[in-house]
Amino acid sequence: MGAVGTRRARRAGGDGPAPGPLLRISGLTKGFPVDGERIQVLTDCSLEIDRGEVVAIIGQSGSGKSTLLNMVGLLDTADGGEHFFNGVDVTRLGEAGRARLRNTGIGFVFQSFHLLERRTAMANVSVPLVLNGVPLVRRRALARELLHSVGLGHRLSSKPHQLSGGEQQRVALARALSLNPPLILADEPTGALDAATSSAVLDQLISQARRRNAAVVIVTHDPLVADAADRRITIREGRTFEEG
Ligand SMILES: Nc1ncnc2c1ncn2[C@@H]1O[C@H](COP(=O)(O)OP(=O)(O)OP(=O)(O)O)[C@@H](O)[C@H]1O
Ligand SMILES: [Mg+2]
Repeated sequence: MGAVGTRRARRAGGDGPAPGPLLRISGLTKGFPVDGERIQVLTDCSLEIDRGEVVAIIGQSGSGKSTLLNMVGLLDTADGGEHFFNGVDVTRLGEAGRARLRNTGIGFVFQSFHLLERRTAMANVSVPLVLNGVPLVRRRALARELLHSVGLGHRLSSKPHQLSGGEQQRVALARALSLNPPLILADEPTGALDAATSSAVLDQLISQARRRNAAVVIVTHDPLVADAADRRITIREGRTFEEG
């Protein structure tokens, strides 16, 4: 690929691996206005993640885990600090550039699944594919394959209310994987599930990511989830600490 091609691939985020870590955040700060004052939630957060790494983020309720994950996921912007994703300086991007990078480069799994209630598992998994212009026949084949890969090949036409919590989360996982993003973000993905279901969903999340060499960042309160990760980062008093 020539220099221009490389630049284009990097801009696209998902498909062109740039040299260096997948994610590099340094000295990130974030505050929110509350009652006319600014509450500083993150004062100095740093995070470096390579392709294929599984990282757990832990910390007390209100410590800023979701706030940090929202910034890693390009859903919110920091007040200061450095933030590179796949070689792209995210702080220089406008909303459209961030959305493009997010759509192709990052898959999301939320605690409450965030599935479309009236749509089938196939349709839910297809949402990112539709948004990215994947043609119908290819879309169907991919969605079917993804649902099979998370053990839901027999549930293609089921709607969320016909599925258990663990099954719904596996649909959400298949959706997050659909564009093969290099980064999967999960905010307490097993928080709404019982212990046995949690560990099955977690196994799926990690094994699917490893198979694709995708990095995973999991926010969790669950020590078992944290133990399954390659690395653990704690947020305390607005700062990130790498646990040994
Ligand atoms: N949009 C916002 N406006 C004002 N304050 C906010 C906003 N978002 C988050 N906060 C505050 O920032 C702090 C961190 O919130 P955050 O949701 O990141 O915590 P958390 O570590 O994810 O907690 P939990 O484990 O309970 O999910 C909290 O005190 C919260 O009230
Ligand atoms: Mg949270």
